[in-house]
Amino acid sequence: MDAAALPPPLLQVRQLCHSYAAPRPGLFAGPAPHPVLHNIDFTLHAGRCLGLVGASGSGKSTLARLVLALDTPTSGQVLLDGEDLHRLPAAALRQARQRMAMVFQDPATALNPRRSVGWSVAEPLTVLAPSLPPAEIRQRVAQALEDVGLHARDAQRFPHSFSGGQRQRIALARAIVTRPRLLVLDEPVSALDVSVQAQVLNLLLELQQRLGLGYLLISHDLAVIDHLCNQVLVLHQAEVVESGTPQQLLHAARHPVTQALLRSVPTMTPGAARLRYATNKKAAYADE
Ligand SMILES: Nc1ncnc2c1ncn2[C@@H]1O[C@H](COP(=O)(O)OP(=O)(O)OP(=O)(O)O)[C@@H](O)[C@H]1O
Ligand SMILES: [Mg+2]
Repeated sequence: MDAAALPPPLLQVRQLCHSYAAPRPGLFAGPAPHPVLHNIDFTLHAGRCLGLVGASGSGKSTLARLVLALDTPTSGQVLLDGEDLHRLPAAALRQARQRMAMVFQDPATALNPRRSVGWSVAEPLTVLAPSLPPAEIRQRVAQALEDVGLHARDAQRFPHSFSGGQRQRIALARAIVTRPRLLVLDEPVSALDVSVQAQVLNLLLELQQRLGLGYLLISHDLAVIDHLCNQVLVLHQAEVVESGTPQQLLHAARHPVTQALLRSVPTMTPGAARLRYATNKKAAYADE
């Protein structure tokens, strides 16, 4: 998309830094700060998808938690529609939380097995917008279930009676029920069977277009990144070491970390070009 045609930024991350306290050896030594993110900068526009890749422990989920204001950064800013989430008063932050949601890797742990699907999908509304009338909540839950390809009557059922792919659809319904503008997707399809992955990825694309959502996508799977993302950041040792379009990174990765990530993509044929995996998988998704 032409930069001039882009809408105003949805999410701006500015000079974001975060450290955890790591224990130090010695009886009287206090914890030492362990930097996990250092000067992270990026901008995401509505209707676009920004991918985050990096080895395990490189700080991807920490960044997701800071973006969603589930954790407070050591320094830096997270601006959602221009508002700095980490400086908002509690009431305004509660409002802002309706504009963002997270989808986790494993839908089984994201849903309460003892509650009906309707209860779980409604929960973000009952917590963040408790003044909504029950009839409006029921209508929004029914709409969200239909938006993800399920039926309004599925609200009565319990999570155990759905397949893995259907449970991830329920988790998506729960994420969109507050009508957010930003979804953070942490490995959204990696716990699913490959055939179901394609359906959920296509649903994500469809929802993004229909609802104008911005996605921040964490994935180890470069084919998933290639399928959904417009831009990718490579995280390594707390910093962004490379960024570009998926195609730029797949075909002309410059940083050794990105090259190592590409080498780690599994191939069916020993010695076959690894990029083919990503390209073929993308074609498979398009065929769905
Ligand atoms: N609550 C915490 N307290 C202390 N250290 C933490 C905490 N959460 C994460 N860390 C550390 O921060 C670093 C980054 O963790 P994070 O979970 O963000 O990595 P990740 O990139 O999401 O990894 P993965 O790909 O395995 O999910 C790791 O070294 C981890 O041990
Ligand atoms: Mg993680």
